[in-house]
Amino acid sequence: MAVERVTILDSKRIILGVTGSIASYKSADLASKLVQAGATVDVILTEAAQQFITPLTFQAVTGQPVYTSMWHTDTSGGLPTHIAHVGLAEGADLFVIAPATAHHIAKLANGFADDLICLTALSCRCTIIVAPAMDGSMYEHPATVENLKKLQERGVIVIEPEEGRFASGLIGRGRLPETPTLMGQIRHALGREWGGLIDRHVVVTAGGTREAIDPVRYVTNHSSGKQGYAVAQAALDAGANVTLISTPTGLPTPVNASLILVESAEEMQQAVLDLLPTADALIMAAAVADFRPAEVAAQKIKKTEDELVLRMTRTEDILLTVGQQRKQTGRPSVLVGFAAETQDLIKNAKSKLKRKNADYIIANDVTAPGAGFQSETNVVTILGSDGSSISLPQQTKAAVAEAIIQRVAARLQTVPHHTTIPDEVDE
Ligand code: PMT
Repeated sequence: MAVERVTILDSKRIILGVTGSIASYKSADLASKLVQAGATVDVILTEAAQQFITPLTFQAVTGQPVYTSMWHTDTSGGLPTHIAHVGLAEGADLFVIAPATAHHIAKLANGFADDLICLTALSCRCTIIVAPAMDGSMYEHPATVENLKKLQERGVIVIEPEEGRFASGLIGRGRLPETPTLMGQIRHALGREWGGLIDRHVVVTAGGTREAIDPVRYVTNHSSGKQGYAVAQAALDAGANVTLISTPTGLPTPVNASLILVESAEEMQQAVLDLLPTADALIMAAAVADFRPAEVAAQKIKKTEDELVLRMTRTEDILLTVGQQRKQTGRPSVLVGFAAETQDLIKNAKSKLKRKNADYIIANDVTAPGAGFQSETNVVTILGSDGSSISLPQQTKAAVAEAIIQRVAARLQTVPHHTTIPDEVDE
């Protein structure tokens, strides 16, 4: 599937070091996805890696020269200086070594400089990400464990390998994660250096709540969770610590987001209130039911009658509760709600903005073409408590999410980072 450009990756220069592992075939896909997302990728292949994959493969997907020797001098002018390891390091925003063999992890941990990956790692001032890949017993060996610990102590990000079946046929932890996981880690690492929400805790709600009728049936809505998950990803790209409170959606959890699964509006409210004391921002993209069945049948309702009449009762309005509570607690510092309307969009959204004491309401007409539930795109108007009103054209839910996160980051610029939980907040 083609990858759309990703803001945090756009125009970033990433070195991809590939060492001699069977997993190196995955690195070609990673390189391709990074380039599609807008990054420039300089690939370094070790001699052992070339036993598994050729320089031509990477040259084809990156459009860049591939570096295979520490004696390489880049006279093409593509690097800040012609000495390859210095030029690569000087121009890099991030250095990813994936896969990283036990041997190279040992060399990196001990400052070796006998190949271009190690030389460049010593020259680099940017963040280094190491993604180990090896048979389970090698990954668990005390030497490897100690070398990885040394690297982490120096600020190197180590991506935990996955459990699974190795080329050897054995099963264990040591498999290089799939490209989406590696991309997610890379995005969050860049976000934590360049983003506008570094060290902020952003809580996002997503999905349609499920209000039980009986143990088998529930009432829900058409929300797919896509807009909320896009907001969570945009917050990660901005370097935030993200907690995603979501109903079951079937969507992959954005990498490094903490997921709290809920079903009903009541469960969602509890999860939100529990997190408020540490939340810098709360963004309520979830489609929370306004009504739920007044009684939940203990057993599956049998089809004895021709019709089933449900008496429904109001659910708690989470956004309203948080909006009122924050008048005393000041938490969260930034509160963003959505308004899913089918008529009088701006009037209804403005009313919510005021009544719920939100900083922003993201108004979307869920009947408009290309907007609302399930779609890949949305059409929103962002109403601010400062009186601002920006109507955005139809665009991807990722782009809408970035527009929201930019505003949240701007509002938080003047707010000190929470170091302690204020006394007045009930535990
Ligand atoms: O999930 P997708 O398929 O991508 O669709 C995206 C979306 C249409 C769900 C999303 O863009 C959206 O509009 N989400 C809000 C849906 C909703 O519940 O809107 P509302 O106008 O009914 O509620 C207003 C706000 O109050 C929302 O922030 C909602 O989360 C919140 N709310 C609503 C009811 C309730 N009992 N408690 C709440 O906190």
